[in-house]
Amino acid sequence: MRVLGIETTCDETAAAVVSERLGGGGGDILSNEVLSQIAQHAAYGGVVPEIAARAHIDVLDRLIVRALANAKVELKDIDAIAAAAGPGLVGGVLVGLTAAKGLALASGKPFIAVNHLEAHALTARLIDPLDFPYLALLISGGHTQLVAVRGVGDYHRLGSTVDDAAGEAFDKVAKMMGLPYPGGPHIETLAQDGDPHRFEFPRPMLGREGADFSLSGLKTAVRQEIIRLGEPTEQDKKDLAASFQAAIVDVIVDRVRAGVRLFSETAGRPSGLVIGGGVGANGAIRRALTRLCAERGLRFVSPPANLCADNGAMIAWAGLERLKRGFTSDLGFAPRPRWPL
Ligand code: KG4
Ligand code: ZN
Repeated sequence: MRVLGIETTCDETAAAVVSERLGGGGGDILSNEVLSQIAQHAAYGGVVPEIAARAHIDVLDRLIVRALANAKVELKDIDAIAAAAGPGLVGGVLVGLTAAKGLALASGKPFIAVNHLEAHALTARLIDPLDFPYLALLISGGHTQLVAVRGVGDYHRLGSTVDDAAGEAFDKVAKMMGLPYPGGPHIETLAQDGDPHRFEFPRPMLGREGADFSLSGLKTAVRQEIIRLGEPTEQDKKDLAASFQAAIVDVIVDRVRAGVRLFSETAGRPSGLVIGGGVGANGAIRRALTRLCAERGLRFVSPPANLCADNGAMIAWAGLERLKRGFTSDLGFAPRPRWPL
């Protein structure tokens, strides 16, 4: 089985072909083409929806051709065409969805609408045949959630952020320090040479019942510290980055711990913890979760950074998981800018 996957929900245009691995489970990525629009949004300090939609239109057809060529297949060799139908910026979603539907109609192959968050949550099974149910931590620029993944299409949200998403917090703190968008990777680099104990930033929600997150208070505390410092020196910035990152790591570890507890009350023991979303590339977060899982005797599956960030392979894989179970979609499926799991 081979599926073509298309991703256009935010500022990455992506197309990929993934096949099922026979025998051992999991899948093989035959091609994974990603074009980032970051340069086109840089001057605005964030993603501009109209620019994003037009940029997707400009490159998507060529990217699909490249994904098929690099996978050494033609459209006739593909079993289904999947596209992210949301959540995300509606203009971009419309571009990817329309392209996928057009290809499905022309080739007579099934079309599969994929939830972008579902794709992040299922990516771990592409690289490591992990059994259901498991706990997924989805941390990106737009989302911060803990989800009990009980099966394909069977998700239960255990907690989510009540204000900023984790990536949003990284990006806003980076902006305060004059770093370019997206700021997450820059904060991580600065933090490597900083003192994580110099500033005692708050750890919102620590120990709180439930598994929700709150990160805007932490961001505000960093802003106040920057104002107090006046003109932060390079060392101040490194210490701010390290102290901020240490606080966010503590919050994430505490909330995942709470998520594991809640999971056991609703879905039994998880077979493991998986991570997805761009912030999942952060080394400090990955190391802390590796320790937590070792303590708890839980498997930790962390896809490589390029599969944590937005990509086409995750959409193709989620499409393949759906296709195997006969979950295909109607061509009338409309974009869903909001689509909670
Ligand atoms: O999943 P993603 O590629 O796009 C969204 O769906 O949002 O995630 C992008 C987010 C950005 O906020 C970016 O700053 C953050 O992921 N990010 C990181 C790192 N790499 C990317 N945050 C912290 N540390 C990183 N190494
Ligand atoms: Zn994403």
